[in-house]
Amino acid sequence: MSDSIIIIGAGVIGLSIAWRLASRGARVSVYDRAKAGSGASHAAAGMLAACTEIEPGEEWLLPLNRESQRLWPAFAEELEHVSGMSIDLRQEGTLHVALNADEHARLRHHLALQEKMALPVNWLSAAEVRAREPLLAGAAGGIWSPEDHQVDNRKLAQALRIAALKVGVTLHEETQVDRIIIEDGYATAVEIAGEHHSATTIVLAAGAWSRGICGLTPDIRPPVRPIKGQMLALGMEADNPLIRHVIWASGIYLVPRLDGRLIVGATVEERGFDECLTAGGMLSLLQNAWRALPGIEELPLIETWTGFRPGSRDDAPILGPSAVPGLVYATGHHRNGILQTPVTADAITRLILDGQRDEISLPFDASRFRPAAISRG
Ligand code: FAD
Ligand code: GLY
Repeated sequence: MSDSIIIIGAGVIGLSIAWRLASRGARVSVYDRAKAGSGASHAAAGMLAACTEIEPGEEWLLPLNRESQRLWPAFAEELEHVSGMSIDLRQEGTLHVALNADEHARLRHHLALQEKMALPVNWLSAAEVRAREPLLAGAAGGIWSPEDHQVDNRKLAQALRIAALKVGVTLHEETQVDRIIIEDGYATAVEIAGEHHSATTIVLAAGAWSRGICGLTPDIRPPVRPIKGQMLALGMEADNPLIRHVIWASGIYLVPRLDGRLIVGATVEERGFDECLTAGGMLSLLQNAWRALPGIEELPLIETWTGFRPGSRDDAPILGPSAVPGLVYATGHHRNGILQTPVTADAITRLILDGQRDEISLPFDASRFRPAAISRG
């Protein structure tokens, strides 16, 4: 069969692209070497934090992140309608707090960066922070980001799986793609257990593993590596949670879920695919969380895990055609893949079905990593 699209990877990126493509009538097969949604998409915290997470030097990422943030409510509504399940999009905003004078100064500096970029944020006094979140340790003030929301990323992946199947996507779980076949300069097929499966377009959406799939010559291997994150979840009373907003404090974020889970994240480590939970990782998460929210002391520890962010060389996603016709990249989403799901799905779908590049995705073309582009600066 040669008129079909093959997607490698059934995380939120591969599944959302598959859903969008098949909704428009395309014939799509998705392969995942594990269960759908079990990679970084399972490990994430689900924050849609374009304003809070902005770092100096990442200004160029902001239009993509803000556009995806804008798309999120309608995307969630449509997905919930098609899948028949809730994904717990909570639109309550994010609070980034300073707990002492040093952090206060640092946060004011961060606020200046956010204001320079005209982001919708404002400073809250200590009393205003207390009014929003009374159980936080005495904060010296904080930044309020009313447009930074959260979604339950595990439910998101589950809903995307259901929606994709409903529109006719063929999903092959526990089926590893061993090789991408390139013939006469065209990506024409994938190899699975010794058999070739041909396609008109192959989408590489294998997250942190995207670089390691055989068949890619060095010039077309996307520069993506795993960035390890350790996380844990504590159990609050669902009807009496300690906090109601996503909270950021020094070295930590806290994400309250509707079911009472309190997600505490996350370490950022260059350790390859090391799945080990470490005493140091857990200690720093718990210590920083306790410092911000002392009431966690009595909560049960209900889950610990690691995940691998797909980090590209410049920490931004790689979206669009490769140098080989037939092969498209949708990878490298690093810390923002949940946030960037709607904008990625739309951009890749339009590229494949209409041959159009969305203006907003152009800066994220893989060509930025080619030697000529690098030497041009
Ligand atoms: P994945 O979900 O990793 O999916 C890739 C899939 O490819 C996997 O299922 C894997 O099994 C499959 N695969 C790999 N190799 C093959 C092969 N050869 N054949 C077939 N299948 C293959 N983002 C946010 O926006 N907000 C957050 O709050 C947030 N928090 C995070 C916290 C942590 C600790 C981590 C680790 C990540 C976080 N992220 C967050 C980032 C986000 O999780 C990722 O950017 C996003 O999930 C990437 O999705 P993906 O579909 O590309 O990758
Ligand atoms: N975006 C949160 C994280 O990657 O830890």
